[in-house]
Amino acid sequence: MRSGKSTYGLAMLMAAAMLAGCAAGGGGAGNQAGGGTEASGAARAGDEAKASGGDQPGGEEASGGSGRESSRGSETAPYLWDVHTTQELMAADYLMYRVNCGAAEDTGGETGLYQTADDQPYGADAGTGKQWGYRPADYMEAVEDDTGEDLTRYRWEIAEGAEYDPEQTGFYYDFEVPGGTYEVTLGFYNPFSARTVTAVAEDQTVMEDQKILKYKLTENAFYTTVTDGSLQLKVYNPDRGKDAMKDPVLSYILVRAVPEYTADLLKQLLEQTEIPENVIPDRQTMRYTAGSYEAFSEQYQAAEALAQKEDAPEEEYRKQYMALKDAYDGLEEIKVYDSFLPGKKWTDDEGNLIQAHGGQVQRLTVTDPATGQTSEKWWWVGEDKTNGSSRSGICAYSSDDLYNWHYEGIVMRNVESRAQLDEEEYFTSLYADYTPEQKDNVFTCLDAGSAIIERPKLIYNEKTGMYVLWFHADGPTETSDSSYAAASAGVAVCDTPYGPFQFIDRYRLNTCPPDQEDKYPESRGMARDMNLFVDADGTAYIIYSSEENLTLYISKLNDEYTYLAVPPEQAVYGRDYIRLFPGAQREAPALFVRDGGYYLMTSGCTGWAPNQARYYRADSVLGEWENCGDPCVGDDNHTTFESQSTCIFQVGDDYIYMGDRWNSEDLKNSRYIWLPIEFDEAGNMSISYTDEWKLP
Ligand code: GAL
Repeated sequence: MRSGKSTYGLAMLMAAAMLAGCAAGGGGAGNQAGGGTEASGAARAGDEAKASGGDQPGGEEASGGSGRESSRGSETAPYLWDVHTTQELMAADYLMYRVNCGAAEDTGGETGLYQTADDQPYGADAGTGKQWGYRPADYMEAVEDDTGEDLTRYRWEIAEGAEYDPEQTGFYYDFEVPGGTYEVTLGFYNPFSARTVTAVAEDQTVMEDQKILKYKLTENAFYTTVTDGSLQLKVYNPDRGKDAMKDPVLSYILVRAVPEYTADLLKQLLEQTEIPENVIPDRQTMRYTAGSYEAFSEQYQAAEALAQKEDAPEEEYRKQYMALKDAYDGLEEIKVYDSFLPGKKWTDDEGNLIQAHGGQVQRLTVTDPATGQTSEKWWWVGEDKTNGSSRSGICAYSSDDLYNWHYEGIVMRNVESRAQLDEEEYFTSLYADYTPEQKDNVFTCLDAGSAIIERPKLIYNEKTGMYVLWFHADGPTETSDSSYAAASAGVAVCDTPYGPFQFIDRYRLNTCPPDQEDKYPESRGMARDMNLFVDADGTAYIIYSSEENLTLYISKLNDEYTYLAVPPEQAVYGRDYIRLFPGAQREAPALFVRDGGYYLMTSGCTGWAPNQARYYRADSVLGEWENCGDPCVGDDNHTTFESQSTCIFQVGDDYIYMGDRWNSEDLKNSRYIWLPIEFDEAGNMSISYTDEWKLP
């Protein structure tokens, strides 16, 4: 890669990064308008100018000479590029003014090169001395709007009942600028019914009857050439007539210098955006996500190649300039965490969203297969919902501090087709001993197209040295195409938590004994939302929703942890399993032990929608469980702080609640809610919400 970045480059890099933030502000607004990047903004500017017959460099070029050159010839004011160096303008992102119209006080927002206030009546800028601002009029009313932000938070409106002259009434601005071509962007965030606005710049109509819709941000850009040292702007609605419902509004104005796009300018941008070697993604010092860095790199190389050509058309330089700038602004830094941020995006150490939903965290001693190194790590398994419902498989992540996670890959892959099981090495080596019938079963249970794999939980078996993965294994059956018909518990094993786990089978589990009331006799032995728990004596249990989610069960596992202690037909109630809270409809169980007392946190059953938590306490796993109510404190909506339990784990003397805030519209974008649990002297647990917290 490139090396030896100059210090100038670094300083500029930072300046550009700061300004990139500023550009992003404008860009963000543009996005809402359906536009977006600067490149498309500029393209729009050209289109607009064409449509409304305003000034535009393309037209000037077509008619022979460069607009900038000719304006230079007849200028009465100094020309922009004589007043400022390209570097200066480039560092300011060419932004001369960024006016938050009607902002009564300083909002602290970004400002252009020539201004220090968000808005002001025409006069000298207190910081830059440049003459700019609006022409005050009695009919102008500055309005603050809670629904907008930054540039859309304030706007000018016409005061109610004001006398209105369709030609004269409007918003007038003047901006002191050197001679040159400028891109002017007008933003309208209109709380009223649809209406139109028109704009005049330098005595030319540059925008005509632009429709602005109710609470839709409309952004419109055009080019204008200034020769007299001042850019004059008027925004009004000549069609307003006597209809006050057609009064114009104005939210913001951006005035940007339009440079001449040349090989030289591109070279300067290349210098500015060069990234020093020590921030290139290479796992040790990685600072940008691989995807955004690759996109940038591609544009950088394309720009380098184009900058070698001296005689390409200006449009080509412009496009490449914009593309490089966009890619540079689009570089995404990888976040390093030093706290928990419940409900916020959580990315791994490569900058990708963590995909470990319905998961479980525990401390494991692991041997990295790549390095052969053995160490203790936090280990998080969960559902990969990249493709929506759990179709990709079960993921694992490792961490040293619980804040920053490293992706360890898919530890149990789903299967794309029956043929894949017979052909792909990953599967052929895993299932070498399986009969064709067994492979058919593997395909049915792990079919990426129809199987449901949820809430994976992993336990280590000291006796066998195997890691055992259980999960809610569901999907259609021979008699039902409902995706939750199988209602089974699946199990897979591996001698390392890194996988690949070998799927064994999925099972229906224990059933309601004849002397008790089965809440769902239609379908016996169901197992859906589940969890695992290993007691101090090494006995493992599976805790799961059965009887169509109406009753929770806890069933003992065998010594290998790979199946029930005894098959359902032989299971003895109270010894091998228990039923909990028949008819109470609880799921999402999370069982843990503290000071010899057992706790079971659960949710209600409302699909992806959150509901009120409830926890229970007992003296032993198969003992009497007592309902202790909702542990959440200050959870006014009774939704477990908009989450559903999945695991509670211990860190030192502390316990962490781990929940999922499901996003049913976009499951991969479901968020994680991790919160500290508090216990009083009597051992009652409580969970309070906090936006951010750290381990003690
Ligand atoms: C929830 C359950 C999730 C998932 C979801 C599907 O009740 O806890 O794991 O199965 O329903 O709607």
